[in-house]
Amino acid sequence: MTEQQFIPKTYSNTVESGKVTWESPSNIALIKYWGKKKDQIPENPSISFTLNHCKTITTVTFSKKENISDFEFDVFLDGEKKDDFKPKIETFFKRVEVYLPFLKAYKFKIETKNTFPHSSGIASSASGMSALALCLMSIEKQLLSDVTLSAVERSLSDNYFNQKASFLARLGSGSACRSIEGDLIVWGENEVVDGSSDLFGVKYPYKVHDNFKDYQDTILLVDKGEKQVSSTVGHNLMHNHPYAKNRFQQAHNHLEKLKPILESGDLDAFIALIESEALTLHAMMMTSMPYFILMKPNTLEIINKIWMFRQKTGLHISFTLDAGANVHVLYPKNESVKILEFIKNELVAYCQNGHYICDQIGFGAKQLTIDN
Ligand code: DP6
Repeated sequence: MTEQQFIPKTYSNTVESGKVTWESPSNIALIKYWGKKKDQIPENPSISFTLNHCKTITTVTFSKKENISDFEFDVFLDGEKKDDFKPKIETFFKRVEVYLPFLKAYKFKIETKNTFPHSSGIASSASGMSALALCLMSIEKQLLSDVTLSAVERSLSDNYFNQKASFLARLGSGSACRSIEGDLIVWGENEVVDGSSDLFGVKYPYKVHDNFKDYQDTILLVDKGEKQVSSTVGHNLMHNHPYAKNRFQQAHNHLEKLKPILESGDLDAFIALIESEALTLHAMMMTSMPYFILMKPNTLEIINKIWMFRQKTGLHISFTLDAGANVHVLYPKNESVKILEFIKNELVAYCQNGHYICDQIGFGAKQLTIDN
């Protein structure tokens, strides 16, 4: 697949106006994407669990303009006009215009809301950009006539729809390309996963043991403030980083190791691998120039408590981290009663205002309005 395949043929339908709504989830990386090349191409492969409850719901209302001029759109978050969101979306529109040539022919109203609090320190870029990409794909679908397609062609076109949505989402925010489908998504070309691509996320195609079905993610909100390092700045720190080359190779090695772990359901090996990934991500930030410590004292308290509890009980509780202080506590569903009790009794005290979010593996985005 090359970028060229996402440039549509001429639009055969005329649509004056309409409205589409999608909800799209966040995701949590097990093997981390950290470092990118030009055009949002990742330096290494990543794999994530798609989440279920943390999501963005976006409605795009569109109407045809008299003349094709510049991009015209307004953005609303929770009903409130957000002009400070516009530059990011404008950049996104510029990047995807060649793949969505209708963008300048319409005026858009983008209304968005998150199921998690905006100030939770949870990045909404993955769910937000994927929801927007899906809305734009639904509009494009209305412009492309497919009434003559056979059932086989239609299912192929569904696959194309998701692939292009992921491709577009990636151009908005790298990790967003892993939010279109579920439950395990791989992004970044590698030798382990057939069909993997730098251009879009693909569903992990191999056997996954029942131990990983319904895996739980309890997100402990240690610091709900603005991110100390934006992802753009963070990824750039990997340029000329003294350990970058080894880190990128390690991600490939980790993916190779993860495959038999996912197949056999070896939870101890899974825990060792994902915790090492989380700490490596932070080690990369501590050893870049400039350097950053994105964990807070409470992040470390939580990690130590998790380790002690795991040792004491033999339960399969583990953690992963994003580029921030919040802790994602991961564990299998069948151990959730005791682990959740431990979280409430021992870990919630380290969260800002005692806030945490219970989530679990999910299966991807859903369209909430039927447009055709
Ligand atoms: C640490 O996808 O937010 O969460 O492509 O610049 O938008 P941009 O970056 P972003 O980076 C996410 C990095 C991470 C790890 C991961 O999700 O793989």
